[in-house]
Amino acid sequence: MPKEEIANLALRRSLFFPSAGIYAGSPSGFFDFGPDGETIRRKIINLWRKQLVEKESMFEIFGSQILPEPVFRASGHIQNFNDPIVQCSKCNSLHRADKLIEVHSKGIVPESLSTTELDKLIKKHSVKCPKCGGSNFATVKKFNMMIKVDIGATGDSSCYLRPETCQSIFLDFSRLYKTMRHQLPIGIAQAGKSFRNEISPRNSLIREREIGQMEVEVFFNPDKIDEIPNFAEVENYNLNLMLLGKKTKPISCKDAVKKKLVSGKLVAYYLARNQQLYESFGIPVSKMRFRELDKDEKAFYARETWDFEIETDLGWIELVACNYRTDYDLKGHQKESKQKLAVKEDGKEFIPHVFELSAGIDRSFYVTLDLVFRKEKRGSEERIYLKLPAKIAPYDVGVYPLVKKDGLSEIAKKIFVNLLDEEFDALYDEKGSIGKRYSRADEVGVFGGITVDYQTKDDDTVTYRYRDSMKQVRVKIPELPSFLRKIRKEFTDKP
Ligand code: GLY
Repeated sequence: MPKEEIANLALRRSLFFPSAGIYAGSPSGFFDFGPDGETIRRKIINLWRKQLVEKESMFEIFGSQILPEPVFRASGHIQNFNDPIVQCSKCNSLHRADKLIEVHSKGIVPESLSTTELDKLIKKHSVKCPKCGGSNFATVKKFNMMIKVDIGATGDSSCYLRPETCQSIFLDFSRLYKTMRHQLPIGIAQAGKSFRNEISPRNSLIREREIGQMEVEVFFNPDKIDEIPNFAEVENYNLNLMLLGKKTKPISCKDAVKKKLVSGKLVAYYLARNQQLYESFGIPVSKMRFRELDKDEKAFYARETWDFEIETDLGWIELVACNYRTDYDLKGHQKESKQKLAVKEDGKEFIPHVFELSAGIDRSFYVTLDLVFRKEKRGSEERIYLKLPAKIAPYDVGVYPLVKKDGLSEIAKKIFVNLLDEEFDALYDEKGSIGKRYSRADEVGVFGGITVDYQTKDDDTVTYRYRDSMKQVRVKIPELPSFLRKIRKEFTDKP
């Protein structure tokens, strides 16, 4: 869906909006989520938690967002977490050099290219300043994207807002390994915020400065990368792999391992679990791909990277970085902290390797909106609805009295409270005409609606209205919980 449609909907229904918006000049790249937006966002995290973290018996932690400088010396972020920036000599505006060149060259420009190479490309593609149209630029410079904070009254403890949530996972690994009494492979997960001083935040939730991340780090013995007990469950499942310089092709996990397209069964297994997770967000597999990154595009810590991307109106958007980080992080922290982070298993001491699925929460939210947004004509009327799967719809059901009088509100409120007690996410709305209430609910993807009308008083039935087809059926009040469970299952199995 065009981004303007999504932006309009987001603002009209306060799904998300720029933070500190009442102050002119507030920096961009920061967003607040309103009630329905926050609920959908939370459900996206919960689905990730259920499907990936809990099903794979991982441990979930919640680490602090501010970490001391030595952490980022060890992780390499102080030395390497740089964006190439370039300043227009005419209007002094600053731009990401690689992104600016991409607009003119229509191809991907790795951000890791040297500043001299980027200078050459700016000349070669006659890059123009998007702000003033000027064509003279200062030379490209590297800009560290971490946000520094000084802690304590004297400010003598240098810290940073974490630029990726996973660093807490690496710092906590050794403690959890000992206290949780679990052998490798161990998955440790975290959903939280990370922070990057982006030069040009853009495309709303796609490039933020305060980033929602849900990350999973799987620690394993590299000698056992092919010993994954549940691999048989995915071996015939097709991954949409886009190998370097090739078109996307579905390849079974078994073949990806056999042909050595991935480092081992563990990698194929988690790529499959990731693709399956996004299928449950209601996204067709045909719109997904794992794009293999070449050495210029990969992050400094990664040996193998697959960017999990989804095709939207904005083009292909990276949602999950799937990185084989080897022992890079634990080794770095062991050296800097002088604490032993190795483990001993099968009589051998070694530093575990790590495979990571690093997903953007807000990007996942945005991309899901893009793909479930529906606008249709019904006679002279236009209807907008979000075809969100039941699991991430903000509410399972809205409960509406046809009118407020004649005792209908009281009956509807009783149904509403009963559904909450039965663990449904229910919404109660009695404001405005019934048509307006339906369309408000449809616009944010409420999964279905119950209307209490005069017939309810006679025969104890209500109308259930399906969000997508707008079909209406009568259901007996005592049967509502089982009816709602049945349709939720039906739509989950066959969205
Ligand atoms: N942890 C990887 C990333 O933030 O991209």
